This record gives sequence, structure tokens and C-alpha cells, in this order.
Amino acid sequence: MTIAVLGGAPVAAWAGDWGMGESNAKIPPSSIFNPVSTPAREIDTVAFFAIAITATIFLIVASLLAYSVLRFRARPGDDSREPAQVYGSNPIEFAWTTVPIIIVFVLILVTARTIYMIQAAPRPPGALSVQVIGHQWWWEFRYPALGIVTANELHVPLSDRHSPTPTFLDLESADVAHSFWVPRLAGKTDVIPNKKNSMWIDPQVAGTYLGQCGEYCGTEHAMMLLRVIVEPRADFERWAAAQKNPPVLDAAASHGRIVFESTACVNCHTIRGTAADGRFGPDLTHLMARETIGAGVAMNTPAHLKIWVNDPSQMKPGALMPAMNLGGKDLDDLVAYLATLR
Ligand code: CUA
Repeated sequence: MTIAVLGGAPVAAWAGDWGMGESNAKIPPSSIFNPVSTPAREIDTVAFFAIAITATIFLIVASLLAYSVLRFRARPGDDSREPAQVYGSNPIEFAWTTVPIIIVFVLILVTARTIYMIQAAPRPPGALSVQVIGHQWWWEFRYPALGIVTANELHVPLSDRHSPTPTFLDLESADVAHSFWVPRLAGKTDVIPNKKNSMWIDPQVAGTYLGQCGEYCGTEHAMMLLRVIVEPRADFERWAAAQKNPPVLDAAASHGRIVFESTACVNCHTIRGTAADGRFGPDLTHLMARETIGAGVAMNTPAHLKIWVNDPSQMKPGALMPAMNLGGKDLDDLVAYLATLR
């Protein structure tokens, strides 16, 4: 299920492709059986342990059952008497009570150890902390120590297994319950209004990892996708430095900027260095540094941006951003301005 849903192609095919099928095909599938971060690896281990024990029980029970069915089946010439019945055998009662209790107890202990190991991990000094805010239907990422705000694509540094540099995520919701899930990095964590949850990841392989909101949260729950981009420290720091700066304003796009600043865009979006400081929608300060738009609904190209700004429901029916209905030169200039936000 995980592989099919998160491989990208089925989701993208359902909503119209917008270049996502091709892009996601380059990213390894998001299998829970291919972990690259400690919490996901611990969960993978405990899952295999539970599967091994239950599969062994299944094989023993199924073999005994099959043997009994074949060995003691009715044969021509059998008399119709019942076989001898066993009642109140203390050794048998004792065995089939204690053995399952021991098995369940072992499973409880192993699971509790894993939960504790993941949830109680201390936050080492210098660990990166990111605030994750779930919105209908996109993800806001704030890096308080770095002064960075972005959306839907979380950049984190690569963690060396010998000197880990984990990233801690503090999750909250701006509206309804969501769930943050990147299968190769960690288990799901609920994102709940008025409650702070936290989790951590320490990805040990650089690359892009696909994730998905894991809790039904309304019409576009299926299109509340996210990406985690894991980069070597130097690349991460280069990205962070570029994000910290306000965008360079391009004089050629000044009319588009005027259009942006004089429409309802500014009520919902922030672009640092302009009058726009809304928080209802994603921060657009460095919009073009992202690969996708609409929480992973389309590749971030000027052609797709034009469709999106004109009427988001064409790409994402039910999206809470209204159609701007600008048309003509204003729309072209606005998109040209957005395309300068690198
Ligand atoms: Cu957010 Cu489902």
C-alpha cells in the first residue's frame, strides 16, 4: 500500500500529471522497508521481529491443523463414535496459557523499548529544530534559530552515524488534525490543533524523500504531500544562507510586484522585503527554490504557476486559495515577478 500510494505515479495520474510522475519516478519509492534514519530503522526492526514471531506461530498452527485434517479424516468403514475427549488436563491448560503470555510479554517489552528509545531521545545541544505547522492542505516549515520560513519541502542536514546531527521537529496544526509521515525517515506523528508533538530524524543517506499527510483532513488530504531534502552539511548551509536573505528585486518585474502588492495575495502570503506579510498561505520569499507547488501537486514552472495563480482548483479542487482571475498582462507580469523569487 505504502509503495503504491507514495510511489507518485498513481496519485499524479489521478489529479492530472503536471510533471509530477516524471519527477517522482527519479525518487526511490517510499517503502517503510527501506529506512535511512534511526527511528524508521528501529520501527522496521520491531516490525520484522513481530512478523517473525507471528509467522512462526502461524506455521506451527497451520501445519498441525493440516496434519490433523489429513491424518484423522473420516475413512470408509470408520465407526461413528467420537474420539476420546480430554478434560481438565493441568499440564495442557498450563502450557497453552503460559506460552502465549510469555510471547505477548516479549512483544510488549520489545515494542515499549523501541517507543522509549525513539520518544525519549534527548535533544543534543546544537541539534537543528524545525517548527512544522500543518495547514489545509500544505506544510509550513519554520527554522526559528535560522530565521527561515518555507513550505512543503523540508531541507535538513545529512547525519553521520558516528557523530549524529539529528533534526527535531515540533509539530502543531493551524486547523484540523493532520499527520506527518515520511516513511523512510520515521513513523507517523499526529499534528493536532492546540497540542505540540515532537519527533526527530537523523537521515544517513543524502537524497529526496517523499512524504504524505497520514490523517484524513478534508478534500485535498491526498494532495498534502511533502518532500524532505537531505543534504551534506555544506549544501544545507548554502541553502540556509540563501533562504535567510530577502529576494533580489528584479527591476524588469516591477509591474508584476505592483500587481502582487495591490491584490488579495498580500493577505495570505509573505514575501520578505515587500508589503506582503500574510500567514494563511505559504511564504513565497524564495518560492522558486522549491521543486513543486501546491504541496506537491505540480512541478514549479512558470507555466504551472500561471495555471495555479489563475485558478488553483484546476490543479487542486477544493484548494483554499481563491482564483485570482487576473487574466491578460497582469497575470503574465505577476507570474514573471513570482519567477524572480529565487
Ligand atoms: Cu492533512 Cu490529511
